[in-house]
Amino acid sequence: MPKVLVLTGGGDCPGLNAVIRGVVKRAAKERNWEVYGSIEAFNGILNEPQEIIKLTKKRTAGIHVKGGTILKTTNKSNPLQYPQTMPDGSIQFIDKTDELAKKLNQWEFDAVINIGGDGSQRISKALFEKGIPVIGVPKTIDNDLSATDMTFGFHTAVQTATDSFDKLVTTAESHHRVMIMEVMGRDAGWIALHTAIAGGAEICLIPEIPYDIKKLVKRIDLRYKGGKGFVNIVIAEGAKPKQGDITATAGEKGSEHVRLGGVAFKLSKQLKEAGCKAEIRETVLGHVQRGGTPTAFDRVLASLFGVKAFEMVLTKQFGQMVAFRNNSITQVSLDEATRENNYVNRDSYLIKAARGLGISFGA
Ligand code: F6P
Repeated sequence: MPKVLVLTGGGDCPGLNAVIRGVVKRAAKERNWEVYGSIEAFNGILNEPQEIIKLTKKRTAGIHVKGGTILKTTNKSNPLQYPQTMPDGSIQFIDKTDELAKKLNQWEFDAVINIGGDGSQRISKALFEKGIPVIGVPKTIDNDLSATDMTFGFHTAVQTATDSFDKLVTTAESHHRVMIMEVMGRDAGWIALHTAIAGGAEICLIPEIPYDIKKLVKRIDLRYKGGKGFVNIVIAEGAKPKQGDITATAGEKGSEHVRLGGVAFKLSKQLKEAGCKAEIRETVLGHVQRGGTPTAFDRVLASLFGVKAFEMVLTKQFGQMVAFRNNSITQVSLDEATRENNYVNRDSYLIKAARGLGISFGA
């Protein structure tokens, strides 16, 4: 029986389970294929005892409505730089790709479907170049992969952020306050920008447009003077002032990335120091944006990605990633998919339209 291994790596996001179910359902139509899942990304196959589970239609029934991933995930199992704890407690990074290839052969897997973000797809590309038959499926709430017009998870994250924003508006209004809401997105401002437009923010701060604190104070003052006694700000976790840096702390040992977060508090302090008289409160949305049930849009996108990924296995289109482009589901090479990230273009119509709606970027 031909076999395919599915895994989810990096941060989770709503829609992962819909991809898994899509693969399993499509594979079942072929009758002779078997689908397996590796628990916690590559850990399931690399660690002893191994954790590989058989994914059947019964096991995956109805999971598309559930957030998270039934396969669990981690951002600390990169087989190219696998973190190994040494006897003295230090961590060293070793290349485990040969071991991975050997174990995949022992299991007689004909293909691997790697569902993950930019970091995971760079791993997919490296594994493919080492001869492992990999197909990538893009996921991330950040929407920062350039080869696909949208990643699943993003729509749900924007909906969650918008729901929270709406709640902050009513309390801002009651107390005549400035409310700062910090959202995720790493170095891309997609979640912040979409939430600001959907919610009707006065100010939106994104990494792609460094802000001028004096302009922000002026804008807030004007709004209070004009009789609107409250201001709602959306700030992306990677946003930075014109003179300054992003707010980041070192990631945990072996983690893929530094940790962002806390920029809302930084902005609040900067506003006060620059003379903002209004009362300010800060909300850091954090991981709620990654949780919960996927929106219908994300369920559809993720399900189509799952079906397509399996069809690419059937046609042996290895070294490719599923993509959503020009309103259709297609594929791109992992090479192209990992070349650059997708950032908000400050000259785009989206930014122009946001400005047209009166949103300030503090620039
Ligand atoms: O890449 C997705 C993301 O949610 C980012 O928006 C955020 O910076 C990061 O992951 C948080 O990662 P962790 O789950 O490791 O805190």
